This record gives sequence, C-alpha cells and structure tokens, in this order.
Amino acid sequence: MTSQDFKGTIVGFCNPLLDICANVEPEFLAKYKLKANDAILASEEHVPLFQELVEKYPVKYIAGGAGQNSLRGAQRLLPEGATTFIGCASNDAFGKQLASSAKKDGLNPLYMIDENKPTGTCALLITGQDRSLVANLAAANSYSVEHVTRPEIWEQVEKAQYYYVTGFFLTVSPESILKVAQHAHEQGKTFMMNVSAPFTPEFYKDTWEKVLPYVDVLFGNETEAEAWATQFHYDHPKDIQDTAAKIAASPKENPNRPRTVVFTQGSESTVVAIGNQGQEGVSVFPVQAVPKAEIVDTNGAGDAFVAGFLSQYVTKQSLPHCVQCGHWLASLVIRESGASYPEKMAKFTP
Ligand code: AP5
Ligand code: NA
Repeated sequence: MTSQDFKGTIVGFCNPLLDICANVEPEFLAKYKLKANDAILASEEHVPLFQELVEKYPVKYIAGGAGQNSLRGAQRLLPEGATTFIGCASNDAFGKQLASSAKKDGLNPLYMIDENKPTGTCALLITGQDRSLVANLAAANSYSVEHVTRPEIWEQVEKAQYYYVTGFFLTVSPESILKVAQHAHEQGKTFMMNVSAPFTPEFYKDTWEKVLPYVDVLFGNETEAEAWATQFHYDHPKDIQDTAAKIAASPKENPNRPRTVVFTQGSESTVVAIGNQGQEGVSVFPVQAVPKAEIVDTNGAGDAFVAGFLSQYVTKQSLPHCVQCGHWLASLVIRESGASYPEKMAKFTP
C-alpha cells in the first residue's frame, strides 16, 4: 500500500481540551469532593477550582483531549496525512496551542470554532500515583451535527475507512455520532469507540444502547468495564473477561462482522473478547513491566494504547500485533510527562 491509500483513513471525534496539570494535596481534592482516580465533567461547584489551581500551584499546560491524544499517537506511526480530528474549540490562545500540537504530530485538526466560549480545559490533579480529571468542556460542548454535515467536513468523513469516537463525545453530540455510525454501517467501514470514563455507562446508558449496535471495536479500562457491567446488570461485574465477552456478544447491526472488545488494566494483562463465542472468544495479553524508576506519569497511557492499536489495525495487522503495539506505545508515553509522545520514536517491531 502507498501512503496515498492511507490519506485521511481515520477520522476521530472528541473534545479538544488543553490539560492544566498540577500536583495537589488530598485536601484540594476533598475541598471539591473529587475522588483521587476519576474523570468527571465540571459543574457549577468546580468553577472556582480552575481559578484556584492556576493561582496557587505551578501548573503545566499540555495538549490533551482523549481522542486527540490517541489520533496524534496513531499518526506518529502511520504515513503522512492518515488522520483527521474533529471537535469544537475557540479561536483563542488555548485553541491555537491545541491545533498546533496536533499539527506537530501530523494530525489534521478540523475544529468547529465557537468564538463565544473559551477553548475547553481539563484539570489534571495529581496526588501520588493517582490523577483526578475535571473537564470543563466550554467551547467543546458546542459541537453540533451542523458541522459534520457541512460539505467540506462530510467529504473528509466519506474519505475515511475507520472512525474512532470517545465515550466523552456522547455527552456532546450523540446525533453526530449516530450519523457517522450509520454511514460506517451502510458503507461497510469500521466504527470504533472508547468507554472513556465510568460516568459514561452510569449517566449515558441510553445513548450507549443506541450506538453500541454500530460499534465494531470498543476500548476501555478495568474501572470502566466494571461500571459498564454494573449499569447493564451483568451477574459478575468484577469479572472483566465476562464483561468483555458479554459486550462483544451484544446485538450488532452488522452481525457478519463480530465486535471486538479491548480492556486494558494498567500493568496487568489486556483482555480482548471477540464476537459471540463467550469465554472461547476471550484472549489475554500480558504487559511488559516498565521499571518504576523510568515512569514519569501514567497520564495518557490508555490513549496511547489505543493509538498504537489503531495504527496497526488500519494496516490490517493481526490482533496480537495490534495489542503489542498498543502496549509498546503506552510504555513510551508513561516515560513522558502527560500524553506526550517521544520527540524521536523508534519503529515498532513486534
Ligand atoms: P488520562 O486518564 O490520564 O489518560 P488515559 O490515557 O486514559 O490514561 P490512564 O492512565 O487513565 O490509562 P487507562 O486507565 O485508560 O489505561 P491503563 O492504565 O489500563 O487522561 C487523558 C486525557 O483525558 C486528558 O488529556 C484529558 O484531556 C482527557 N479527558 C478528560 N475528560 C475528558 C472529556 N470529558 N472529553 C475529552 N477528553 C477528556 O493503561 C493502558 C496501557 O498502558 C496498559 O495496557 C499498559 O500497556 C500501559 N501501562 C499502564 N500502566 C503501566 C505500568 N505501570 N507499567 C507498564 N505499562 C503500563
Ligand atoms: Na505520561
């Protein structure tokens, strides 16, 4: 295949967010009623948090937004121009910083622009090994189906063969997600999603029920798997293999293409379930340990895993190969600050 065959092959949707990272004390989390390891959407009570954070702590601004993190990473391993990212930002300094970080990794950002709101941010509050994420979507929340249906944007959607949408985007524009999912289904293309956070099955179960039948590949981590299993009343919510198998076997618009479910578990093995085969369809892939001394922070590990997996999946590599590349890219990102990819990257060799 030539690099021309990969032009615009992956289109992703998520919230473009600038991460505001700081080490904080547990008291700071307690003050805003935050769990040490969680991801939530900011509400009224979190408005002063952002102000206090930048005033009281040395903060670092790092390009974030889960979907954009993954696409930047996938692009680093793919031929030029393979990836396009869609979401809503403002035309302010943060929006420009996000677009330029995307372009630096070779990702094509096609932001809808809302001038009336600031670009979204995500407070990344680190306490020891844990991180608490509070996303203030701001402009990101303005994304609407009106943008994706503009001829010049839809043209990019039509060009793509693979779609990757985070569960975070369910809170913003389910209408756009369904439109793209239906297109993928009609055209026999591949539609992929991520659970993204425990709150998506908890508060957006109805939306998941509408989109899951279109999902060919679903990613998540162990806490998201448990939240999903609990909300969907599975008998053994702590059994991640059972959860993966059940989701893989859930009803599908195109039953000829079995669904793949991929759950990572930090340094523990990654679980993959395929189709309607119950435990028979489950495989487990061990993770190679990264020496503690080499870990800077695990932020972006899950997003990088998806990036590595996608980069191989779209080049039609085997499942073990896709998972290994996910583990490899995640192992590089945890050696960097935030969801950043190394300046110089070796070639992935399985
Ligand atoms: P963050 O949650 O930090 O990133 P993540 O990629 O999800 O990283 P996690 O550390 O949570 O990983 P995970 O649990 O998914 O994966 P796992 O640990 O299993 O946040 C990232 C972004 O989210 C931010 O940039 C923010 O902007 C964005 N965000 C927040 N709210 C948002 C919203 N509403 N909308 C849009 N964006 C939003 O690890 C995966 C793999 O990594 C493992 O399989 C393994 O290979 C490797 N790995 C992990 N830990 C180890 C280890 N200790 N040793 C070896 N390998 C490891
Ligand atoms: Na990192």
